[in-house]
Amino acid sequence: MELRQIYAPVEKDLVEVETLLKSTSEVDLPHLAKLIEYSLESDGKRIRPALTLLAGKFYNYDLNKLIPMATALEILHTATLIHDDAIDHSEVRRNKPTANKLWGEEQAVLLGDYLFAEAGRLTATTNNLRAVKLFAMTLKTISSGELDQAVNAFTLEQSTEQYVERIARKTATLFTTSTESGAVLSDAPEDSIQLLIKYGYNLGIAFQIVDDILDFVGTESLLGKPTGSDLTHGTVTLPVLLLVRHCPHEEHVKRLFQDRRDTETTQAVIDLVRGSPSIIQECYRIATDYCERALEPLMGLPDNRTRRSLEELTHYIVRRRK
Ligand code: IPE
Ligand code: IPE
Ligand code: MG
Ligand code: MG
Repeated sequence: MELRQIYAPVEKDLVEVETLLKSTSEVDLPHLAKLIEYSLESDGKRIRPALTLLAGKFYNYDLNKLIPMATALEILHTATLIHDDAIDHSEVRRNKPTANKLWGEEQAVLLGDYLFAEAGRLTATTNNLRAVKLFAMTLKTISSGELDQAVNAFTLEQSTEQYVERIARKTATLFTTSTESGAVLSDAPEDSIQLLIKYGYNLGIAFQIVDDILDFVGTESLLGKPTGSDLTHGTVTLPVLLLVRHCPHEEHVKRLFQDRRDTETTQAVIDLVRGSPSIIQECYRIATDYCERALEPLMGLPDNRTRRSLEELTHYIVRRRK
């Protein structure tokens, strides 16, 4: 199934999210308006707002709360990407020049801050204290994950547990918040909220593992962002951890341990991963395991079209090329 079909139960409401995203740029400073509009234009996959809406569909589907919440989470996500690109000096995102490329890092950081605050304001319009606390916790956790990634850059001695803990912080948390907020704002019973949290967490881990695989074997024009950039920036992800574990005596791997910033060695190691179907397959197998763990809690929810969309999403994220 394609994303459009998966999103079908909430298609109309996602259009409203787009409208609210657009209205975010209605501010009286023309330059700021331009930066916001450019960043929020509809070229992302919109997975997080779709998750909030889908998770909200099982009980009391209250659009007055779900639309602002879903919009807030897409804005929060976009702001983390703007900061992520500024930190990495990345030049392309969603097939367009990044904010830092067009307007410099200083403006990109400030734009991200502005968007974080706007997302917080929108969350508060739900008048739901649990959602507001959740939003604040999420931003703290993502920042801590990105910081953990920065301090562990170029560190090859990492366990897969540490890797999973990090991607849980930087990525899965927002997936969890997306499903949890949708459930909370639709007055779902606590046990259903917990099932959707478990789903969101495992889907988020699988999503980041696939993102990390695609950084090696993906196509830039489809992804809309550069490939091969994780290891170049020192970000050690699952494919590299598995390579180091399986081939510790490989010449380039040994050399990478000796000089972690050597660009030729880094490129050789990237090529090694790209040329190792067994490593890519193992990463996909691990991502698929997380998807299966995401499917399990869904069995405790009402069996309807929305549940099927959440099921299909687990298949989509492993299959995806963008
Ligand atoms: C990119 O997220 C950042 C990660 C968590 C890997 P997406 O792949 O959802 O980005 P967009 O929103 O579709 O551009
Ligand atoms: C997700 O990780 C970034 C955030 C949580 C902000 P990546 O660094 O892998 O995201 P991409 O690959 O740049 O989209
Ligand atoms: Mg990045
Ligand atoms: Mg990535």
